[in-house]
Amino acid sequence: MAITLELVKDLPEEVDAVIVPACSDRLGTGDANGTDWAYLRSRGFEGRPDQVFTLPSSRTGTAVIMVGVGPAASVGPLALRRASAVATRAALRHRIVASHLLDALAEGTDAAGRAAAAQAVAEGTVLGGYQFTKYKSKAEPDKLERVVVVGTGGKRVQGALDLGRRIAEGIVLARDLVNEPGGSLTPARLAEAAVEIAELEGLQITVLGLDEIVEAGLGGLLGVNRGSAQPPRFIELSYVPANPRGHLAVVGKGITFDSGGLSIKSGAGMMTMKSDMGGAAAILGAFSAITAVAPRVRVTGYIPTTDNMTGSDATRPGDVLKIRNGKTVEVLNTDAEGRLILADALSLASEAEPDAIVDLATLTGAVEVALGNRIAGLMGNDESWIEQVQAAAAAVGERVWHLPLPEDYRKRIDSDVADLRNISRTTDGGSLTAGLFLREFVGEGIPWVHLDIAGAAWSNDVDGELVKGGTGFGVRTILELAKHFKKPR
Ligand code: BES
Ligand code: MN
Ligand code: ZN
Repeated sequence: MAITLELVKDLPEEVDAVIVPACSDRLGTGDANGTDWAYLRSRGFEGRPDQVFTLPSSRTGTAVIMVGVGPAASVGPLALRRASAVATRAALRHRIVASHLLDALAEGTDAAGRAAAAQAVAEGTVLGGYQFTKYKSKAEPDKLERVVVVGTGGKRVQGALDLGRRIAEGIVLARDLVNEPGGSLTPARLAEAAVEIAELEGLQITVLGLDEIVEAGLGGLLGVNRGSAQPPRFIELSYVPANPRGHLAVVGKGITFDSGGLSIKSGAGMMTMKSDMGGAAAILGAFSAITAVAPRVRVTGYIPTTDNMTGSDATRPGDVLKIRNGKTVEVLNTDAEGRLILADALSLASEAEPDAIVDLATLTGAVEVALGNRIAGLMGNDESWIEQVQAAAAAVGERVWHLPLPEDYRKRIDSDVADLRNISRTTDGGSLTAGLFLREFVGEGIPWVHLDIAGAAWSNDVDGELVKGGTGFGVRTILELAKHFKKPR
């Protein structure tokens, strides 16, 4: 259910529950709705992050949801977002909830700090309340309609609540797309979702169908699509502000299901492969909120989309594909398909001569082995652009880690028959050779960063603002990058 968020100065009468923050080093100071601190302590509640304790409503008619925020000094937007998500999940059975989370801010926090905190509370509320119940015949009850955030700050803080809600709804959109099964979210459906966003937000969009993809020479996308009964699409979305201060290109992998193709995956290996369009989903989620963020940079999104199937005319190991930029690729493993469709997309994006490119792709299982499932691998060809992407990700709490593109590994993707092979000659360093492969399709002199989100796009458990399934990783980084975009030197 869509939740409304509004700022109020005083606690309204008719709330069903209140969310109250507790700092781990300030337990029991102050009187929060007559809270029995000794009882809370006896039940192990210490105000640590992720701790939540609901005091039933029998006495006052209003349930009290205590949520830990950690030490008072560490309470900033990220801690509040997390606490807001955890508390909202505990509040889903209530209809109207008042949140006192902004009370946890240090006294004397300036107006910008209060706005950032309010935005974070809104994001946490929407994300913590997220459930993918479309295919449940009996869904868990979710009655939450309205969250009133108690605090001051007027229009600016209300604006921040609205912005946080819009961004989080973009993340929800990305999660919904990732969670939608591959048999239902076909490339055509993904393109329809993009058209809906473009119409709603007033963005420009072009969608290439099969014939136009052939015409455009997108040999990587066509090669991956060969085993499929579903036609491919190539989506180009763009946001153009008045007097843009530059041009940012974002490229996203849109494999709607990855069976591996003839180099087929194991049964277990394909269980979550509906999520192989997580990069595309992040771009669509970001575009759905881009007018709310209103960056001063032009942003173009490029999404190649197909599934990777095993049909009777599927690409065979040994086949050679010709990518949009003219380079030829020997496909030795059809499961290394993401880089083939991204090669076309990076070539096309480069033709527009943007000031910088960032791509997001669920590209290699190896990155999850290296960094785990909460951190994306970051590679790139330009130090200042790498730093800009790192700063944007850090600001929004999406964790990325810089990995190298070692020049001496480049020969591992030399082919005996074509310009390149699509897998390394060795099994080690798979994320890096994938990055080196992508670099071959970035236009000369264009700053480029690759985010390998194979681990981060999907969560196997409930964790802070995350629930099981798609995470929407990347939406916030894209929006933050656009908002503060500076042409890399
Ligand atoms: N979509 C997968 C990568 C992936 C794995 C994403 C696990 C999310 C979770 C990608 O297309 C793939 O299959 N990569 C291969 C590359 C290999 C054949 C060089 C891999 O990682 O095994
Ligand atoms: Mn694959
Ligand atoms: Zn894949």
